[in-house]
Amino acid sequence: MTDNVTTRRAGPFAGLEEFVTENVPLAPYTCFRLGGPARWLITPRNEEELRQTALRCAENDVPMYVLGLGANILVADSGIGGAVFRLGNDYWREIRLEGDRLRARAGMDMQKLVLKCVRQGLAGIECLAGIPGTIGGGIRMNAGGRFGDIGAAVTGVTVMDRHGQIAQREKEDLRFDYRRSNICAPFIVEATLQLEQDDPDQVLYRTRQIWIYKRNTQPLSARSAGCVFKNPPGCDLSAGALIDRAGLKGMRLGGAEVSTRHANFIVANNGCTATDVLNLIDLVRNRIYQRDGILLENEVQIWP
Ligand code: EPU
Repeated sequence: MTDNVTTRRAGPFAGLEEFVTENVPLAPYTCFRLGGPARWLITPRNEEELRQTALRCAENDVPMYVLGLGANILVADSGIGGAVFRLGNDYWREIRLEGDRLRARAGMDMQKLVLKCVRQGLAGIECLAGIPGTIGGGIRMNAGGRFGDIGAAVTGVTVMDRHGQIAQREKEDLRFDYRRSNICAPFIVEATLQLEQDDPDQVLYRTRQIWIYKRNTQPLSARSAGCVFKNPPGCDLSAGALIDRAGLKGMRLGGAEVSTRHANFIVANNGCTATDVLNLIDLVRNRIYQRDGILLENEVQIWP
């Protein structure tokens, strides 16, 4: 009874203030640089702190959200009435290389990993060149594109469930499909990737080619969340090609704009709000539905 009263007064994370902060703007943590605050931002410094805070969320019915580099996320202007976890300190970025096997904690930056692999002459994740995000986020979404995806290299993941229980999932029970995986646990803690020794010059060459393709076809330096829509299944044309063909490149709504470089990107100009982007997403989806009878599905994750 006393415990409940204390919890209510001090909030669900009483005693954990060293790594739990309240009402934190999320915009700086996303590539769109848009959106409102998180009721709580949780930055656990290790697995035990992650477990403690996950448990508190479960006990107090606090919804949980996990942020990587915020590369594929649009946070609503009204913000998030729950706990946003960010596995961002050195602990979560550790990697261990054992021959051609790599173990990486969830917060490792995919671009830094790609560079490391180039230097070591390790092949297998060149396809991630130019894709912003963390290993955890990349694995959950099966990050990739026309050159391959991360799922092909993953041989195991360590996950934590909402009660703080750790489990190991091996390659046999992992499934990676187009921009999705079958990992349902809220937290990916660590992953193992199987790579292949190769000539560093060859790995560098392939990585550069992929990066150049992206740089030439995508607005990499603009504020965006990458591709907005999934490519529609069973359709010869990509979402970008459909939107382009409909003449929607450059279309603006408030500060949001359909990129003139790649039509499946929406970029945020000065003064843009998350609502502008949401409205532009709806508008594009409606136009393509009316024109082609295809209902485009979001690739970008919209929070909440
Ligand atoms: N296209 C157009 N107009 C455009 C954009 C594309 O006609 O404005 C045409 C291209 O000419 C090409 C086709 O559409 O013939 C496909 O375009 P692209 O090669 O750019 O690939 P995409 O299917 O649009 C996918 C991923 C990207 C990834 C690239 C390259 C999806 C939804 N997108 O894009 O991933 O970078 O392949 O590997 O699967 C992301 O996940 O956020 C993302 C950007």
